[in-house]
Amino acid sequence: MPRPLHNTDTSLNAENLLRLPAEFGCPVWVYDAQIIRQQIAQLSQFDVVRFAQKACSNVHILQLMREEGVKVDSVSLGEIERALVAGFDPKTRPDDIVFTADVLDNETQARVAELGIPVNAGSVDMLEQLGAASPGHRVWLRINPGFGHGHSQKTNTGGENSKHGIWHSDLPLALAAIQRYQLKLVGIHMHIGSGVDYAHLEQVCGAMVEQVLAFGQDLEAISAGGGLSIPYREGDETIDTQHYYGLWNAAREKIAKHLGHPVKLEIEPGRFLVAEAGVLVAQVRSVKAMGRRHFVLIDAGFNDLMRPAMYGSYHHISALPADGRDLSHAPLIDTVVAGPLCESGDVFTQQEGGKVETRPLPAVVPGDYLVLHDTGAYGASMSSNYNSRPLLPEVLFDGGKARLIRRRQTIQELIALELL
Ligand code: LLP
Repeated sequence: MPRPLHNTDTSLNAENLLRLPAEFGCPVWVYDAQIIRQQIAQLSQFDVVRFAQKACSNVHILQLMREEGVKVDSVSLGEIERALVAGFDPKTRPDDIVFTADVLDNETQARVAELGIPVNAGSVDMLEQLGAASPGHRVWLRINPGFGHGHSQKTNTGGENSKHGIWHSDLPLALAAIQRYQLKLVGIHMHIGSGVDYAHLEQVCGAMVEQVLAFGQDLEAISAGGGLSIPYREGDETIDTQHYYGLWNAAREKIAKHLGHPVKLEIEPGRFLVAEAGVLVAQVRSVKAMGRRHFVLIDAGFNDLMRPAMYGSYHHISALPADGRDLSHAPLIDTVVAGPLCESGDVFTQQEGGKVETRPLPAVVPGDYLVLHDTGAYGASMSSNYNSRPLLPEVLFDGGKARLIRRRQTIQELIALELL
């Protein structure tokens, strides 16, 4: 796993990161294009790698994906427009973008109909609405196989407690709607959550084969969805992409044999492609004791990186001393790392449910920096303007050079929407 500060092979090394605040301000999101390319290369056996852009939807990251032959999954009109700006072109390459959702609002429906963007339908209502507006449209069916799995209940997207997809036994209803509107079925898709374990995976592959064989519909492709995990903690398992591919390929082969023609195999990762390629650099603004607790307060909050507050997610944190002093042998202090927001939950070291935890960190002083690692996925893309804080800049390292790929939002821009 790229642990940037200790890994000079990547652009996310201490020397590079330390230069950024002066040039781009602080806090700042930073990505390394080379790590993204390495992650893409690990999935090269799949016929289509489709980036779930919700993980990191910056237009420049999307452009990079396109240049590497990756397609894109969009979940909102905004994401569709981003993909178009990044050069994905559904008019000439109909499968460049797939729109995945459980509902279609009127505006999005009109746009997908106009551009002929295939729709991955998560409800029968969606099929009926789309069918009436755009007969003959290309559709995928997102099937909820009746079970799910996730790193948190909030990211478990299968089973009875999940709103996602078409319930597996409703597949005949979906097929009937497809027939009624002469929609064109491209394929079947399953995404049961974020964070893979192989036992679940075999279950999903089995469910996919079962669905296709039971209902006898013809199709061009199947999609394994996303969900590939990454090692956030030291010692976390790294996903074996060969094994992962092998399981899905076996499912694909059974389906192809049954249908009597080749079937394409898609994969739709978000996190796997970008999480390890990104860090958040924030500055230490205060160091204080609260009784026995040692707090380090930084200038980034949960409005910037929401994952710890939302899911109790773990992000490795390392210290980046502003004066370059060597902290490698410094004694470690059990530290609570928190942000500037007006809520006690604005803590980067916490469990799901809000229990505050500490992290062993060397002594830092105001002016030093902390680096929050593996924040390339669901970092910037989940940020908000809470506490009227502008969105942070994003910087991309490529070929050894740092390039600004999103400037910092200004406070005037925030207020402008209300000056009617
Ligand atoms: N495909 C579909 C239909 C999805 O709903 C998702 C994620 C993905 C693909 C990509 O999943 P990934 O490969 O990134 O695990 N905000 C949460 C993750 C929410 C994921 C929602 N759907 C987090 O920060 O962990």
